[in-house]
Amino acid sequence: MDKFVIRGGNPLVGTVRISGAKNTALPCMAAALLTEETVVLENIPDVRDLQTMRRLLVEMGGEVELGYGRAHHRTTICTRSLNRPEAPYELVKTMRASTLVLGPLVARMGRARVSLPGGCAIGARPIDLHIKALERLGANIAQEHGYVEARAERLRGGHIVWDRISVTGTEELMMAATLAEGETVMENCAREPEVGDLASLLHRMGARIEGAGTGTIRIQGVPRLHAARHRIIPDRIEAGTFVIAGAMTGGDLIVANCEPAHIGALLQKLAEVGASLQVGQDTVRVIGNGGLKAADVNTEEYPGFPTDMQAQYMALATQAEGTSIITENIFENRFMHAQEMVRMGANIKIEGRRAIVRGKAPLSGAAVLASDLRASASLVLAALVAEGETIIDRVYHIDRGYERIEEKLRGVGAQMKRIGEMLPKKVALAPTS
Ligand code: UD1
Repeated sequence: MDKFVIRGGNPLVGTVRISGAKNTALPCMAAALLTEETVVLENIPDVRDLQTMRRLLVEMGGEVELGYGRAHHRTTICTRSLNRPEAPYELVKTMRASTLVLGPLVARMGRARVSLPGGCAIGARPIDLHIKALERLGANIAQEHGYVEARAERLRGGHIVWDRISVTGTEELMMAATLAEGETVMENCAREPEVGDLASLLHRMGARIEGAGTGTIRIQGVPRLHAARHRIIPDRIEAGTFVIAGAMTGGDLIVANCEPAHIGALLQKLAEVGASLQVGQDTVRVIGNGGLKAADVNTEEYPGFPTDMQAQYMALATQAEGTSIITENIFENRFMHAQEMVRMGANIKIEGRRAIVRGKAPLSGAAVLASDLRASASLVLAALVAEGETIIDRVYHIDRGYERIEEKLRGVGAQMKRIGEMLPKKVALAPTS
């Protein structure tokens, strides 16, 4: 298992380029299951979750070809001969988003067998709403031996009102409805940019969808979809993570190749805490000026403050003057990073869904454990401002969703190394000047 060794104290200076959005690439790869023809996706980030999705498509009988050289972020998928429409537990347990294939499979193949995801570090995360919604489109669903089995001659359009907003639920049902007979209307849908980008790909494949990105989506089913080529939007969570890194370390960082409109709630919050920001067409420049002040945050569905930025914001709050109250409204158990930050010297109290962060607390390097994807990113941020050396264990979590984060951070001045299990425990880094 790899670890990161980070020596804090360097301001980040320079330009960092943002990769394609993992959470858009995942449903777009699943969308390739809706057609026998070839789907070409550009700007696919090179992260572990997408390798898992590739494995899943290949196990089901799909052909997946990776670009190389300058085109190494291109993935070409053809699922003409699917002989095993099944998502096994071994893959679903490492990536819950594998369940995204359920809707497209039953829509195209008339049957699907997908492992039920268990709980995970950040909460129970059931897929009951996805299942209920697929039943509304006429699928027969049985659950046994830890698997969901769905069958339908052909799905038929229906009216779905989501009991609660679900991002992958909205995506999965939008995909399923493209091949259903008649019209589907979904209300209380997720409005995340990832939903809109998936709809753009589906349009290119011949789907008839209106309202993606709003609360109500209408889909007219068509008998078949066809080949398409699509470029994935930039990753807003990666962009947000780097903007926070710039604000915390007091440097002068240009976060390039991003979509500032997709991180509006975060940029507004950073302006409130006193970060100096210059927002361009596809760049955010953040000039750290040291004097950050506390501000409260509530996580919400898009366009609110994203739960996927909560941990990183907590790292920043430890360095802001005053008390910040962070309320997590989406997941019930998403504060695992707090205990690790406390071990580094942060002053954080957890009260149910609220974290009370008192700053500014001097952080000092320590050995810490990454518990999930965004928690690991927050520990990297804390380590960048801590005095001395931090060793972050279980960085496979961060590899699930951040492309070469250590190379990107090193490129703008961070002192950071990846070490493998086989290397000696103590790694000497150059002292900070
Ligand atoms: C997606 C993102 C994830 C992000 C989350 C919330 C992907 C691959 N992942 O996850 O990074 O943190 O949105 O923005 O895009 N729920 C149910 N029953 C269901 C479905 C959801 O109770 O059937 C609950 C969940 O447990 C959670 C809430 O609804 O408390 C929102 O979850 P949801 O939007 O579905 O998250 P994901 O789509 O899994």
